[in-house]
Amino acid sequence: MGLRLAGRTALITGASSGIGAATASALAHSGCRLVLVGRDERRLSEVARRTGGRVMCADLGERADVERVAADQDVDLLINNAGFGWEGALEDMSAEDVSTLIAVNLTASVELTRHLLPAMVRRRRGHVVFVSSIAALGVRGEAVYAATKSGLRTFAESVRYEAPPVGVTTVLPGAVRTPFFTSRGKPYARSFPRQVEPTTVAEALVRGIERNHREVFVPGWLTVAARVQGTVPGAFHRLARLFG
Ligand SMILES: NC(=O)c1ccc[n+]([C@@H]2O[C@H](COP(=O)([O-])OP(=O)(O)OC[C@H]3O[C@@H](n4cnc5c(N)ncnc54)[C@H](OP(=O)(O)O)[C@@H]3O)[C@@H](O)[C@H]2O)c1
Repeated sequence: MGLRLAGRTALITGASSGIGAATASALAHSGCRLVLVGRDERRLSEVARRTGGRVMCADLGERADVERVAADQDVDLLINNAGFGWEGALEDMSAEDVSTLIAVNLTASVELTRHLLPAMVRRRRGHVVFVSSIAALGVRGEAVYAATKSGLRTFAESVRYEAPPVGVTTVLPGAVRTPFFTSRGKPYARSFPRQVEPTTVAEALVRGIERNHREVFVPGWLTVAARVQGTVPGAFHRLARLFG
């Protein structure tokens, strides 16, 4: 059974923009109290004005900031959403690019979960969400980004064994119309899959919590890609090379 949302406290990372900001609105609408985490104080304050949330500025690439966010947080819902992209040839990445991408996209979520999940389990109430990506299946030109997203998915699958009665949901969006692509410096250039709105992802995420779904693909038909990869990986790889 899923969690009733009214009156719960939700900590959302990457709440200043895109999917995180849309999720903040959706959870506020469902009656949650919010802690809004990100680096951009001005954009976080705008989201806070709309949702009544509390702003917490933190750079999740910095261990001390992650520990500050994790300390003393009496939260029922942890939405691990903050992340950024990197597209290009692997050889063009610097060691610093690699370690920052892994720190923000993967390590911060692992650390926040490590700190916050035990209290939820003790209270026998809570839900942890990981915003992964369809890139978790493997994407040309995004090897390290894809690895962080696949890491989140596998972490969620594994940590679920330690979580009952706390729910764990992984959200795997395709392409979403957010500043993600301009921030990484490469616009979304594929014709397929078409971009969906961040509100669509947020609604699916909230439904995933309420119904305690293990994985939520957005749009839903992307589950087919995961099934094809699982059953006929060779054919999947050939199709992925054809369609990017
Ligand atoms: N857009 C897509 O097509 C797509 C598809 C699949 C998955 N996703 C995933 O969805 C999540 C949200 O992305 P989005 O599309 O909503 O992009 P976005 O609009 O660029 O939002 C990214 C969020 O992550 C936060 N963030 C980035 N680096 C951070 C850091 N070092 N410390 C703290 N917060 C940080 C940003 O906050 P500040 O700038 O305030 O720090 C921002 O709120 C990401 O994990 C992304 O990988 C996106």
